[in-house]
Parts: sequence; C-alpha cells; structure tokens
Amino acid sequence: MNNFPIFYNKIFDYSLRKGNHIKFIDILKSINIKKEERIVYLTKHIYKETPIRLANRVTDLNNLPFGLSKNHSINKIRTWYLTSFLELTNIKEPQSEKDIVIFKNIINNIYSRHSNTLVTISKGLYELKKENKLSDIEAPMIQTFLDRFYKNRTEIRILLEQYLSLFENNNDENYFGIINLKSEPVKIIYDIINDLQFIINQNRLDILLDDIINVHNNVNIKIPCMENYLYYVIFELLKNSTQAVLDKSAIENNYKPSINVKINSIDSNYILITIEDNGIGIKEKDMEKIWYYSFTTSLFDSENIIEESDFNTISPLSGLGYGLPISEIYINFLNSSKNNIKINSVYKKGTTVYLYVKCYNEYL
Ligand SMILES: Nc1ncnc2c1ncn2[C@@H]1O[C@H](COP(=O)(O)OP(=O)(O)OP(=O)(O)O)[C@@H](O)[C@H]1O
Ligand SMILES: [Mg+2]
Repeated sequence: MNNFPIFYNKIFDYSLRKGNHIKFIDILKSINIKKEERIVYLTKHIYKETPIRLANRVTDLNNLPFGLSKNHSINKIRTWYLTSFLELTNIKEPQSEKDIVIFKNIINNIYSRHSNTLVTISKGLYELKKENKLSDIEAPMIQTFLDRFYKNRTEIRILLEQYLSLFENNNDENYFGIINLKSEPVKIIYDIINDLQFIINQNRLDILLDDIINVHNNVNIKIPCMENYLYYVIFELLKNSTQAVLDKSAIENNYKPSINVKINSIDSNYILITIEDNGIGIKEKDMEKIWYYSFTTSLFDSENIIEESDFNTISPLSGLGYGLPISEIYINFLNSSKNNIKINSVYKKGTTVYLYVKCYNEYL
C-alpha cells in the first residue's frame, strides 16, 4: 500500500483517457450480439474501460473540498479504488478462455470490494457535518461531485453485474443477464410492501401497511428491467411516504394515514407510478434540499450507520438522506434519460411523487 504514490503517474495517465459511457439501452441492445461472442466482447470492453473509470474516481476523491478528501472514510474508499486499479492494470489483456476466467475472478473481487461505498461515503459526510465542517450552503458543491461519482459508479457496477451474470447458467429465457425481460412493476410493488412491513416490525413501529397502502394497477404490460434497481427506487419512495405518515400521526389526533400507489400507462413508451401520501409533507424551503445527499429531516442518529452493501434492507426507515438522490440516479439509468422523478408537496397536507418508468417494448 505504501507503493501507491509511485502509481499516481499511471493513474493520472488513465484519468486523461476518455471513457465510453454506457446506457441501459446499450446493454439491452447487446442482446443482439451472438451469445458466444458476448463474453469476449464484454471482457475486452471492461478490461479497457474499468481502469479509466477507477482512475477518474481516485482523481475525484483527491479533489474533494472541505477536508473531505482527507476524511477517514474517504481514505478507505480511495484505497479500494487504488487496489482495484492496480489489480487490473497489472495484468495483460485476456485472450484465451483460461485468461478470461482469471479476469472474471478479478472482476468478481473488485465488485465485492466496492460494495459498501455508498454507506462509507455517507459516514464521511456525516462525520464532516458533526465537526461543523459542512453546512447546507456548502452541500450543493459536494452534490455535484457526489452526483457524478455515484452516476459513474452505478454505470460501471451494472456493467460488471451484467458481465458476471453471463458466466452463470441461467436457463430462464425471460432473463438476459441481470435483466428480466418480462418484469411486472406491480409484483415488485407488492414485494416491497411485504419487505417494508418486515422493517417496520423490526423497528417496532406501530403501523400496518395493508391498512394504509392501496395499490391501483391499470396496466398489464411487462417491461425489460433490472428489477433490483427499480425495487430500490420504489422501496425508497414508499419508505419516505411511510415515514411521512408516521411523522404526521405523531402530531395530529384522529389522523387516518393513507398511501395510494397508482400504476398507469402514459403512452406506449412510459409507465407512470404515482405515490400519494397524506403525511407530514415537505416545507417549501426544503423542496430543493431534499435532493442533497446529506439532507434529512430524520431524527435517526447516523452514528449508528452500519456499513452495508447497496441493496441491504436491514435499516431504519430513514436517516441517511440519500434515498432520493440515489433513486434518481438509478431510475435515470433504467430509463436512459433524465428527470424521471417529480415531487409535489404541501407541508402538513401530504406529498405526491411521480415516477416514470420506460417500457422499451421494442425489446419484448
Ligand atoms: N413523502 C415524503 N413526505 C415528506 N417528506 C419527504 C417525503 N419524501 C422525502 N421527504 C423529505 O426528503 C428528505 C430526504 O429524503 P431521502 O429519502 O433522500 O432521505 P431520508 O429519507 O431522510 O434518509 P434515507 O437515506 O434513509 O432515505 C427526507 O428526510 C424528508 O424530509
Ligand atoms: Mg428516504
């Protein structure tokens, strides 16, 4: 590890190279590449692309403002990036089948190494806030950095997940790698409600979702989707609504909490999922801040954050402040476009969230 400084020239060199961004639609299109050629094609692409991405993230971490670049949690992440970068740049481009298997194992290790990045960075931000080194005024600057960082991280992780899944023998013809070509959003929503109730019970909160949440499904279309990611997004939105109705029930007598989830088709390209709660609502002055990674109105003490991987659901209902911004990154990736979550809210009345989900029916 003490050798890291001498590799900085190499990192600098890679960080100047131009990476190729991928979109979900590109991954979907690769369904047209012959099965035998897919692994070879992706191996080449990942071997070339990943070190560039890793080098760029190291540079980003080094340039973080407000002392964050020297924070303990950020150092930890930098070490992961440096280690992965070195592992990949110390091997020759895989050619034979045997090389590809070795390469795949390296990628697998790298994928696991970086699993806890989200929560680790959150911890870093929390520490900074606690030392009064980060205020709401500075948050937008960190926002730009984190948005880029997480967007890139999501992109490359999805690519690696798709690559690794090609080595597994999944005979289910509905699946192309990690993509379920026939996903049903309503099923995902019912799974989420079940899992959310589990978390509620674990946290000993007095709320029965079956009595509160009504699901109105007006579509019966199946879409190609990386379900883990759509699950995450809707899970975060429903968690927020649940927290909001709990917050309101704490201040209002004779209150009847309700959350309506509606799934509608807008046109042949998009589904609209509307989540409407009559919870505590969002103050007008906070409307912009809810998208900040460090903004939360939760009273949960983030000191208790346990370092967990991306899709771990053992957690309180709220507390980190990254539910919304990360959801936005995920849904934008799934839709291969921007601005897919819209939020309207009136303080003390309730909140309506509109989530657009692209159908990609040309791939069905
Ligand atoms: N449906 C909602 N009703 C009221 N407030 C909401 C709603 N959704 C989001 N908010 C506000 O936006 C803030 C940020 O939401 P976000 O999901 O990003 O973080 P969080 O819920 O506080 O923490 P976590 O990272 O655990 O999700 C919340 O703390 C809350 O103040
Ligand atoms: Mg949340």
